[in-house]
Order: sequence, then structure tokens, then C-alpha cells
Amino acid sequence: MTDKTEDSNSIQIPRERLQKRIAKSGYCSRRHAEQLIVEGRVKVNGSLITTLGTQVSEEDTVSVDGKTISAARKVYLVMNKPKGYITTLSDPFNRLNVSSLLPDLGMQLKPVGRLDKDTEGLIIFTNDGNLINKLLHPKHHIEKEYVAQLKGCIHSKAIKKLESGILLDGVKTKPANVKVIHVDEQNEKSTIHLTISEGRKHQVKKMCLYTGFPVKKLKRIRMGPIELDKLKVGTCRMLTKPECDMLIQLLER
Ligand code: URA
Repeated sequence: MTDKTEDSNSIQIPRERLQKRIAKSGYCSRRHAEQLIVEGRVKVNGSLITTLGTQVSEEDTVSVDGKTISAARKVYLVMNKPKGYITTLSDPFNRLNVSSLLPDLGMQLKPVGRLDKDTEGLIIFTNDGNLINKLLHPKHHIEKEYVAQLKGCIHSKAIKKLESGILLDGVKTKPANVKVIHVDEQNEKSTIHLTISEGRKHQVKKMCLYTGFPVKKLKRIRMGPIELDKLKVGTCRMLTKPECDMLIQLLER
């Protein structure tokens, strides 16, 4: 529970109004939740709250008449984003965006990170704001694996450079892993798997370009323990219980 001032250096934990949190749990309508708060029947972390609009996060325990209200059901999805879709949920210019590919589950799901419009592949969606923050926090070094089709025949010097780090906008990239899948000398193109543990803007494209091998096609195939596998382009699936457990374990390291 918090007032509205926040340390600008801290990770922003998503917060919402107390009445919204109660309503979202399915306990009652928002209007009724407001009534309960005003009547002095709601506690947050054991303290009585009668102020409407008090901000709470998912980490706060909310109770009504002494009974704990469970937070909204957590949903975790993985999508195979097609090329040509932007990773925002709404767009003032009406461009194709990923929200049109999400199932309607009656809750707002947010993407964990972004992919460029012309990048295909894996994006996780969830309503678990805590998980989003943790997955994106650099301290967890979550691996992201991409298949990149490159212009030119990649060579060992370039691979070493990609792996050991490249100066991008004045900051060296963290160690990466490269696996060469195919070098087509006749058509002067290569296919590599590149695994990075950061999420800087256009990172893969910039790393490859700065090494002399522009990316022609890019697809993300893994994020941490979650793999794209055979998921059809433009479709979603729920993460399995073991996948959710693996993700949560990873973040507890
Ligand atoms: N790196 C890129 O350059 N683009 C993406 O979409 C993802 C990673």
C-alpha cells in the first residue's frame, strides 16, 4: 500500500485502486466495494482503510470483514507474433497490433517486452505485473534466443565479436551465445541462433549490423525456459503449470 510518491529509481510495481482490486477478485461490484470501504469493513495488510482510491499492489493483502480477498486469477499466455504486427495493445494509427490476436479472457493482458514490427516469434502475455517487472529486470539475465537470417557469410571473427560484446550506443553488450546453423556461400547468406540476456532496443539487429552482417529476417524462439516450439504463427497458447513453475523458480534465484 502506498501514497502516490515513488522513488524514481525503483521498479514500478503496478498499483490499482482498492475498490478496483476488490471488484476484480469477483467479490462484488466496484460500487459495492466503495461502500464496503467507507463502512470500515476493509483492511489492507491488517490496517483498516476507509479512504476511497487508496492504491494497492498485488503484494498487499486485502480483507473484507476479516476474510482475505484473493487477487484476480493469473493468466500466462505465449503468442507467436506474426511479422507486420506491432507490440502495443492499442494504436492511435490503427495499425495491426497484437491485441487483435489475443483471446478475450475478460482481463487485460500485457506483453512481457517487445518485438519489432518486422520480427516474428515468441511473446509472453500476462496480467501478472510482478512477473512482467521481474522478467524484464536486467538483474535476472533472462535469456532470449533468436533465429537470425543474415546477409553475408558469417565468419569466426564476427562470431567472437558477437559473443564477447559490441559497443552499442556507448555501452558494451553482455556476453552472448552464437550457434551457426547454416552458411550459404553461393547466395551469401547465413542463419544463426543468437542468445542474449539483455533487452535493448533493436539489440539483435544492431549487434549483427555492427559486425557487418545485416539481419534480413528475425524470429524469437525462446525466452528463459519458455520455447516457441510448433506454435502456429498468429496463435496463442496458455503456459503449462510446469512452465509457470519454471519461470517463477527462475525469478527466485
Ligand atoms: N532485437 C531486435 O533487433 N529486434 C527485436 O524485435 C528483438 C530483438
